[in-house]
Amino acid sequence: MIINVYKDYNEISQKTSEFIVEYVKQKPEAIICFAGGTTPLRTYSLLVDYANRGEIDFSSCSFIGLDEWVGLDRHDDGSCQETMYNTLFSPLNIKESNIFFFDAKSVNLEDECRKIDEIISSKGGIDLMLLGIGVNGHLGFNEPGVQFDLSTHVIELDETTKVVGQKYFKVETELTKGITLGIKQVLNSDTVILMANGDKKADAVKAMVEGEVTNQMPASALQKHDNCYVMLDKEAAAQLEL
Ligand code: GLP
Repeated sequence: MIINVYKDYNEISQKTSEFIVEYVKQKPEAIICFAGGTTPLRTYSLLVDYANRGEIDFSSCSFIGLDEWVGLDRHDDGSCQETMYNTLFSPLNIKESNIFFFDAKSVNLEDECRKIDEIISSKGGIDLMLLGIGVNGHLGFNEPGVQFDLSTHVIELDETTKVVGQKYFKVETELTKGITLGIKQVLNSDTVILMANGDKKADAVKAMVEGEVTNQMPASALQKHDNCYVMLDKEAAAQLEL
């Protein structure tokens, strides 16, 4: 893990967007997987600015979904897909044929999992992944206790996730399961960026970076990734023994 600590949220967003722009300049046909959630929102807005200034072109990239609340789709307020479309895919005019998301409303979620696994395999794997971290240490919806050798799967959400997840919804929403890429796919990705900001993430960040590698803290699996860049603000890094 390469740990980078910056002044504030704005700076980690700026540095992360620069990293992504440089990556895509080197590899215009990159296979990309970006997290929903609130942490990367400023990064996405900066990426849109870069594209609008003509400094980067994402039109040849493929975008793979990371996770979704089971029962919601891109038209549901607060869904992961809705976030990705509103903040990135629509402003960048990404072609539908370059976006690969599972249908979390499908009656056969297993088929959706295998569909995404096959898409990732057929494209030769994910090049660049941008992740956030849950306060309970989850990555995507890889919740505490998850097996590290799983590919895309459906999982019962952790109680913490059900409570914290309400922040994405205007009205209280029943959250029971998630569909997510697995830790195996995270570890097989060529380059991983993990962003965290704010003191609410400090405990999880410490356990991820300095704790033992255990499935009780899914993000600790990133210690096994050779090319993982952790982008932190001072608050999120506060408990690290740097
Ligand atoms: C959410 C999502 C993740 C996200 C993480 C952190 O529940 N499942 O994809 O990265 O938790 O979210 P946030 O950035 O809103 O803190």
